[in-house]
Amino acid sequence: MDEFVTLTYNGKEIMLPMVTGSEGEKAIDISSLRAETGFITLDPGYANTGSCLSSITFMDGEKGILRYRGIPVEQLAEHSTFKETVYLLINGRLPDRDELTQFSVMLNDNSLVHTDLKAFYQNYPRRAHPMGILSSMVNTLKAFYPTLETVEEEINITMTRLLAKVRTMAAMSYKISRGHEIVFPRADLTYCENFLNMMFDSPVKSYEMKREAVNALRVFWILHADHEQNCSTSAVRMVGSARVNLYAAISSGIAALWGPLHGGANQAVIEMLTNIQNDGGNCQKAVQRARDKNDPFRLMGFGHRVYKTYDPRAKIMKKMCDELLESMHITDPLLDTARELEEIALKDPYFVDHNLYPNIDFYSGIVLRAIGIPTNMFTVLFALGRLPGWIAQWRESTDDPHWKISRPRQIYTGSQKYDYVPIHAR
Ligand code: CMC
Repeated sequence: MDEFVTLTYNGKEIMLPMVTGSEGEKAIDISSLRAETGFITLDPGYANTGSCLSSITFMDGEKGILRYRGIPVEQLAEHSTFKETVYLLINGRLPDRDELTQFSVMLNDNSLVHTDLKAFYQNYPRRAHPMGILSSMVNTLKAFYPTLETVEEEINITMTRLLAKVRTMAAMSYKISRGHEIVFPRADLTYCENFLNMMFDSPVKSYEMKREAVNALRVFWILHADHEQNCSTSAVRMVGSARVNLYAAISSGIAALWGPLHGGANQAVIEMLTNIQNDGGNCQKAVQRARDKNDPFRLMGFGHRVYKTYDPRAKIMKKMCDELLESMHITDPLLDTARELEEIALKDPYFVDHNLYPNIDFYSGIVLRAIGIPTNMFTVLFALGRLPGWIAQWRESTDDPHWKISRPRQIYTGSQKYDYVPIHAR
């Protein structure tokens, strides 16, 4: 039975349909509001606006739940491989053995990049941030494959190309930035092993693949694989809604992710922890600054638009961080600072009242440091993890029969009409 919400305005009653999701989430469909009343809705930052119907990821921010295609992220982090999770997100179900093998073969077949790309990388200024380079290079990749993704097969190849090549390109960019030889992908290595090998193997010293490092990267990437309509995913959907090609849509997602309030927070956390240490290790002072409204400082890696409890990804990341450092016999003083900061913040009335808990980025930087990833590459690692989510969301939006170009409205607050005055008369 259809359900409606009644809006009363100026004595007139307007019936607006209710929409209920498969987990009981409720929305009001306001698409007829303007035609019926002349009103639009105003919701800065889209904090309470549903932009689409989606069957990819379910989040409950109050209960701290995250599921990909119905499967709890905790189970995937424990048992799945990144490749299998990618397949799940993009195809909507887990693959059988043959499908997974075929997917692996396709990824391996597409993992090499044209060596002409090297020239592009070499010409970036040495201090360029890897996220800016990655965003531009994903757009550049389109120039190497100018055919349009019109037929299903072509779209599948493009998605596979991105999953396989962007990983190669990220490692290649790191090697070139250091002036080192590029290491090519190998078909005998897993998705995660391949990346670590391309990053750290060298002609003078073979990379010693550690099981713990591979596992940490696997979990890190699974935890980042999708997060429904966050800023970068919304960018991918919005840019994609203009029917732009997938490379351009993903490039916009990478650009959005770069921001310190979003994916860039993993780098910002390490910088913040380092600053706290350099300043004498006073965590209490940092918490005090974070709650001072006259100070722009925020605790990076804390707070989330949706989670009003502990981020379920952060729980896994924190546990993994402890285990990883212990098993690799690493002592990282930043971990002690992070633990102390968390303990103080979680007891602080301001943080309690504002429901501010650590998010995924709080401990992820320490994990990445432990496996040797340089700080300025942290957000690139996030982007590689989020790639399947962006692709799945782009595909869902392009398959939607009700697909429309994204075009929000506004309430204009500028000058009312006045006449142009020529410069000599001003
Ligand atoms: N430190 C201090 N105060 C905070 C923080 C923080 N990290 N986060 C939010 N607040 C306060 C904020 O000042 C505001 O207070 P009041 O209501 O008294 O004015 C209140 O909490 C709500 O904050 P908001 O900025 O309106 O919340 P939002 O939903 O718009 O922002 C956020 C979410 C993640 C941008 C924000 O919590 C933040 O800036 N966190 C630090 C950056 C960070 O860790 N980002 C990574 C997010 S998780 C990875 C990802 O998926 O992107």
